[in-house]
Amino acid sequence: MNTTEAELKERIKELTCLYEVSSIIGNANAALLSDTLQAIGFSIKKGFQFPKKTEIEIITESYEVSTKNDLDNTVRITSQIKVFNDEKGQLIAHLNASEFAAIDFLQEEQQLLDNIAFKIGNLLERIEIQDNETSLKRQMEHADRLSILGEITAGIAHELNTPLANILGFAELLKEDLSTNNKASEDVDKIIKNTIFSREVVKKLMFFACEMPQEMKRVNLVPIIKNAIHLLDASFKKEQVKYVVKIDEESMFLKADPIQLTQVIFNLLMNAIYFSPKNGVIIIEALQTKSDIIIKITDEGKGFEKDDLEKVFQPFFTTKPTGDGSGLGLSVVHGIVASHKGKILAENNITKGAIFTVTLPKDEN
Ligand SMILES: Nc1ncnc2c1ncn2[C@@H]1O[C@H](COP(=O)(O)OP(=O)(O)O)[C@@H](O)[C@H]1O
Ligand SMILES: [Mg+2]
Repeated sequence: MNTTEAELKERIKELTCLYEVSSIIGNANAALLSDTLQAIGFSIKKGFQFPKKTEIEIITESYEVSTKNDLDNTVRITSQIKVFNDEKGQLIAHLNASEFAAIDFLQEEQQLLDNIAFKIGNLLERIEIQDNETSLKRQMEHADRLSILGEITAGIAHELNTPLANILGFAELLKEDLSTNNKASEDVDKIIKNTIFSREVVKKLMFFACEMPQEMKRVNLVPIIKNAIHLLDASFKKEQVKYVVKIDEESMFLKADPIQLTQVIFNLLMNAIYFSPKNGVIIIEALQTKSDIIIKITDEGKGFEKDDLEKVFQPFFTTKPTGDGSGLGLSVVHGIVASHKGKILAENNITKGAIFTVTLPKDEN
């Protein structure tokens, strides 16, 4: 075979390889990326001068695939895989070092490799864009649902607020009229007690919908956390739950409504205590970054069922037995955090239990 013919054959092999890789990439399924990369590896082999002896290795952030397991003692050529201009992996062609030297690779083979590395980079970019879009869409749907629920809840709360105030008012008048009748007066007391309870529920609903007037001022988070813990001293003792406070600084300032902030920590701790086992430890952490203050509450309870994770902030969602929970605590917390332009995240701890992370913007002054 003369050299021109041989060279021509090589070019055809390379072009066929490029074509094959392009169609693999065109049909790639993001969920099966590892299979796609494997298939690309085998295609590239065919484009090389010594197809049977060339082995291909593809390394990306999430996968490492190769056409042969053992790739020690090889000579190689390498191309970088770039995703949005950052080096995110490598495409490597290997030949056995006992048989070949680095100069046995053709210049065209390096070009072919560069070309395919570029295509793989494009594929990874495409997948990253898709992933971002999906997660953004999910976040938006979630936020939408919460805000619609918030509006409905605010509506209901408003409607109930006035009649409840009337019931309470009239019950109090009745109580005065019945002051000589013990039995009736006890009954009226029950009405009053239940009405006050209902009003508390309504107040929480309004909190959730952020209908409560806010009093924002520059406050130090550290004493607020200590105060919330102090309010719960009795509960910690009663449920035999321990806590550890990890706060390195004496002051962390932010713009917030101190009562609402107390409520956030209080509600999170109430849940943590409820779900903690006997002798369980709750870790209460606070730290600050350049722009944010982060509060983290970790417990050793049962954590969340996967399906529950996205529902925990919805009003009335509760897994507690009837009578134990209203399912409003976390929706109140969510509403308050959102109105402070912050974020809250619920997740399972790797070992066991739940972690709640609240991120609030720092006071710049
Ligand atoms: N620390 C926690 N560990 C496990 N699950 C939790 C925790 N905190 C909240 N949850 C889940 O979120 C639900 C809603 O909480 P919340 O809104 O405070 O209402 P409630 O406490 O009345 O149930 C709880 O019923 C529970 O399923
Ligand atoms: Mg609760």
